[in-house]
Amino acid sequence: MRKWIITIILVSVCFVFALIAISKANKAIAGQANAKYVSEKKCYMCHKALAKTHETSKHALSFKCLLDNNQDKNPKCLQCHTTGYGKPGGFTDIKSTPDLIGVGCQACHGPGSEHIEIGLSKEERKQKININASSECVKCHKIHQKHIDIKSK
Ligand code: HEC
Ligand code: HEC
Ligand code: HEC
Ligand code: HEC
Repeated sequence: MRKWIITIILVSVCFVFALIAISKANKAIAGQANAKYVSEKKCYMCHKALAKTHETSKHALSFKCLLDNNQDKNPKCLQCHTTGYGKPGGFTDIKSTPDLIGVGCQACHGPGSEHIEIGLSKEERKQKININASSECVKCHKIHQKHIDIKSK
């Protein structure tokens, strides 16, 4: 009987801890859930060293692939060659969102409007951006598929 009670207590304690952990994890994700894409120039302002290496990378310059092939308005291409296409605040066209051409910081780290809010602590900023960016690569780099036909309509 005693053993039973101890087991029940232990199980309930674990359950409570699990609930706390889940709610915390949800909070971290919720921090970015309502976020919108913002001008990439905003990221460059605080992350100067990273911006320098990024600005000249193939990712940052990958909109040129579309321009060179006269495909810069083809929705089929924009999801992988721009930042946040089809999502709130994301790339729409080169005229209204010129700072979101190419694969920018937010293409890998997710939308940044909440991360850049004024008056946040370092810890709060960390929670409001996606740091698990290495799982984003395969959304654009299709390992077992050939690249879409460049002239496809
Ligand atoms: C107001 C300044 C500011 C702006 C603007 C800003 N960041 Fe940050 N960012 C920070 C600070 C502060 C940290 C905390 C990390 C540290 O330096 O210790 C951080 C951390 C990060 C991290 C790492 C998080 C972690 O858990 O280590 C990423 C990724 C990031 N920022 C991406 C971005 C992106 C993308 C943008 C543009 C949307 C951006 N930042 C704009 C200040 C800024
Ligand atoms: C699923 C994501 C995805 C889509 C959709 C996509 N691309 Fe790409 N594209 C990539 C990736 C990733 C690379 C770089 C690696 C590779 O070549 O597979 C690339 C590379 C390219 C290159 C070669 C760039 C160079 O200089 O080597 C061109 C040109 C290009 N894409 C044009 C297009 C056009 C035009 C479309 C639309 C018809 C398109 N892409 C649609 C992901 C995509
Ligand atoms: C192609 C995807 C990709 C792009 C584009 C990208 N990042 Fe990252 N970033 C990552 C990955 C993956 C990591 C974690 C692994 C690592 O540290 O290299 C990371 C790590 C970071 C970190 C934390 C570690 C560190 O080096 O300080 C910060 C801050 C950061 N990125 C900010 C940025 C900013 C700002 C930009 C744009 C100027 C940017 N990232 C563009 C994928 C990307
Ligand atoms: C939003 C779509 C997207 C995401 C996410 C993305 N890439 Fe790319 N990547 C591209 C495109 C498009 C190119 C082609 C650029 C070009 O050739 O001009 C490219 C090019 C590259 C290249 C060739 C660059 C060079 O200098 O030769 C490497 C390597 C690469 N990506 C790795 C990664 C890794 C690793 C990640 C994840 C951390 C990642 N990419 C995330 C779209 C993406």
